Amino acid sequence: MPFAAPITHLWLREETKPMEHRAALSPDACKKLLEHGGFEITVEACKERIFRDSEYEDVGCRIVPGDSWRQAPADAIITGLKELPENDQTPLPHTHIMFAHCYKQQGGWKDVLSRFSEGKGLLYDLEFLQDDSGRRVAAFGFYAGFTGSAVGIDAWCHQQLHAGEKYPTIKPYPNEDKLIADIKGKLAKIGKAPKIMVMGAMGRCGSGAVSLARKAGIPEENILKWDMAETAKGGPFQEIMDVDIFVNCIYLSSEIPPFVTQQQIDSDRQLSVIVDVSCDTTNPFNPIPIYSVNTTFDNALLDIESTNPKPLQLCSIDHLPTMLPREASNQFALDLLPTLLQLPARATAPVWTRAAELYNDKVASMAAAE
Ligand SMILES: NC(=O)c1ccc[n+]([C@@H]2O[C@H](COP(=O)([O-])OP(=O)(O)OC[C@H]3O[C@@H](n4cnc5c(N)ncnc54)[C@H](O)[C@@H]3O)[C@@H](O)[C@H]2O)c1
Repeated sequence: MPFAAPITHLWLREETKPMEHRAALSPDACKKLLEHGGFEITVEACKERIFRDSEYEDVGCRIVPGDSWRQAPADAIITGLKELPENDQTPLPHTHIMFAHCYKQQGGWKDVLSRFSEGKGLLYDLEFLQDDSGRRVAAFGFYAGFTGSAVGIDAWCHQQLHAGEKYPTIKPYPNEDKLIADIKGKLAKIGKAPKIMVMGAMGRCGSGAVSLARKAGIPEENILKWDMAETAKGGPFQEIMDVDIFVNCIYLSSEIPPFVTQQQIDSDRQLSVIVDVSCDTTNPFNPIPIYSVNTTFDNALLDIESTNPKPLQLCSIDHLPTMLPREASNQFALDLLPTLLQLPARATAPVWTRAAELYNDKVASMAAAE
């Protein structure tokens, strides 16, 4: 009898975090996994998810009730994005793929990690699935920059069209085309394009921010693209004060001089909107040291105090891709796909063995700290 390779069973769980419409696996990615062969995919029904259950069913996934992953077969790999509900402290016997936010000693990290070790489960943390060069295999960066840039332009339009009025609550868009049409409509009413500077323009978030500005019809000469070469001279930078919108997308890895200072904000300037996509809000080396809280979809903009009467508003939402859940999820899942295809060989595939070693190291460091 020919040897039948074991099937890898992925189980997409329902997300329970409020306002989370994204998914770790899109129907498109599921279709590709199933067409490749060697995979079985179970999807928990979910009303909040941007993809309808039927979209998964149509490509061959099996639909089961939401929140049923605890009863999944022992070999199922439970796949999700966000944290598991905090009110449940039961041990976790399965292998999970997710963003667990417990490797950098975040609040409650031991509670999360000990559930895996007590249940003899395994955590493959999505934030630490890295290729041989140490780069993350999948991240939401592009759509964080894309939507951050959209908020920046939209906030600038709001300042022109509804001066002094509160910026409305941001609602997720069903798709990218609707978001772009919305912004184009507002820019058309104003009749002129803002000047925008994207910092970290060569990175994932930065390229998304530039892409949105182009799709919104902002002329190329109005989009300043800065990265390491332009900031090598050291900040603060007058060039930031001379644009309308500043979108910060850098990856901060060490102490750098600030990009902007309060003194500049208090002086004559063109700048009226900052979107800090990087959100190094509480980092002592935050290069935008004029604020210290994250904003939310309900209250997206912070009014920065200034002796200059011209308004300056800042957005520091740390989950921006939620604004475009369909495209953001699909891009993430397709970036993850080549790594998922290595799951059947995970015992020897470096990206998975490294992630398992990291999990074991973190469990060991937790035990040592006790
Ligand atoms: N707000 C959100 O919702 C959200 C979502 C995803 C990621 N992020 C954050 O966005 C940041 C960027 O992520 P990424 O995936 O785009 O990183 P990335 O590594 O792909 O890109 C970062 C870019 O910043 C540039 N850079 C670094 N230091 C710089 C400096 N001093 N001056 C000019 N350019 C500099 C790099 O050269 C690179 O091009 C991270 O901090 C990440 O956590 C935020």
